Amino acid sequence: MTSMTASHAADLVAALLFILSLAGLSQHRTSRAGVVHGIAGMALALAATVVVAAQSITAGAVALIVLAMALGAALGLWRARRVEMTQMPELIAVLHSFVGLAAVLVGWNSYLEVEAHGTAQTRIGADLLGIHHAEVFIGIFIGAVTFTGSIVAFLKLSARIASRPLMLPGKNALNVGALGVFVALTVWFTISPGLPLMIAVTVLALALGWHLVASIGGGDMPVVVSMLNSYSGWAAAAAGFLLDNNLLIVTGALVGSSGAYLSYIMCKAMNRSFLSVIAGGFGIEAPSGRDEEQGEHHEVRAEEAAEMLARARSVIITPGYGMAVAQAQHPVAELTRRLRERGVEVRFGVHPVAGRLPGHMNVLLAEAKVPYDIVLELDEINDDFADTSVVLVIGANDTVNPAAAEDPASPIAGMPVLRVWEAEHVIVFKRSMASGYAGVQNPLFFRENSSMLFGDAKQSVEEILHALGTNDDHGPAPGTRRATSVRG
Ligand code: TAP
Repeated sequence: MTSMTASHAADLVAALLFILSLAGLSQHRTSRAGVVHGIAGMALALAATVVVAAQSITAGAVALIVLAMALGAALGLWRARRVEMTQMPELIAVLHSFVGLAAVLVGWNSYLEVEAHGTAQTRIGADLLGIHHAEVFIGIFIGAVTFTGSIVAFLKLSARIASRPLMLPGKNALNVGALGVFVALTVWFTISPGLPLMIAVTVLALALGWHLVASIGGGDMPVVVSMLNSYSGWAAAAAGFLLDNNLLIVTGALVGSSGAYLSYIMCKAMNRSFLSVIAGGFGIEAPSGRDEEQGEHHEVRAEEAAEMLARARSVIITPGYGMAVAQAQHPVAELTRRLRERGVEVRFGVHPVAGRLPGHMNVLLAEAKVPYDIVLELDEINDDFADTSVVLVIGANDTVNPAAAEDPASPIAGMPVLRVWEAEHVIVFKRSMASGYAGVQNPLFFRENSSMLFGDAKQSVEEILHALGTNDDHGPAPGTRRATSVRG
């Protein structure tokens, strides 16, 4: 077998491993196998690429490639070991920006190579030069949009800049106009390539990427992250065409299409228009931004919460980002076990974008060994709140905000939320009256049937467990299962 045939075989096996990886990652139970398949596919792809490259470049260049890979691997391992689960989306956004930047560099390199040597010393036939120019332009455009878009996403997700949408006058016209200019420049460049056009498309795409993501509001960031994931896939595929690397084309297409599908699923879950979000919030008007006086909130102590829970007939726990920050999943699982032992029906209501990652809450609850069958999705549990004694909102905020359902002027209007306010009592675990990720005030906190339990969620749940233990010493409240209000 020649080394070229061996490399094609390796590409094929690596592509199959990537498909297996995606299939595995779609379910908790098979996700570890999915990760192993992904690692194996990438190791094989890298090895095959280096072996093929080694035949046409100097030993010094091979050494440089190996050095770059070792440095990248060391940095990647160091970051992956240190990153908190709650910082994952930021890390993913940064990684997407690298893919975008790489695509831009590949595009520029490919252009300069043809400029310097003509087509004679490259693999491109003179008759295919126009197609090559278009590939260069498209690759740079997608890569640059991904690069700056991902940087803005990183800044928003890490709260380094405000998450609210940037509302430049005529923002939709700006986006559509930039696309139109890109098409015109591509045609021009294909006919008559030149350095000024290369600079123009790079600057245009960098500005468009920045504006697209800056225009999308905090509540829609989950969709943005998966959308940038998709863009990074298409940027990689474009680089694959320029480098004549089939595996990069296949892998880029896999990432691009799976990211696009994930964005679509998330848009459906959040009742958002897919096209509007990928077009930088196209058609979304500026939110009213009004911050009305909401009234007074009521506070509750852990002992009183424990008393309510001990007397409850049914409890639903709706976890959110704060549970992840506090790492409260283990005491929450213990509380679930203790209440179930007392005969209380306990279930979890998980919102599709609770936390900062798709499936974030499911992963935490699985880690704490909460049984799968009591962890329900929004659609499965939303009608049951009205018949529930106590809801524990543990570090969730936007995902339980009644304004989404009741205030058409709210920036999160129309986003499906867990209707926790329909329950007899709601206890909200958080540290302050601060708003959630979308920066929107939450009227839930001021409802008659809501009580705030202030403090770190883990500590509050542990205090409840302690208080329940003390109650257990006196035996469970006989026959009384209905929760009673703690506010006279
Ligand atoms: P959020 O709306 O983000 O609110 C979390 C709440 O947790 C905050 O109000 C915070 O209040 C509280 N909190 C933080 N640390 C805490 C601690 N140690 N103990 C107790 N409470 C704590 O949460 P959510 O309901 O899960 O909504 C998720 C939001 O993130 C949505 O807007 C969603 O669109 C967005 N988002 C989601 C994703 C994905 S894919 N899931 C990705 C990016 C963005 P205090 O500061 O007062 O404690």
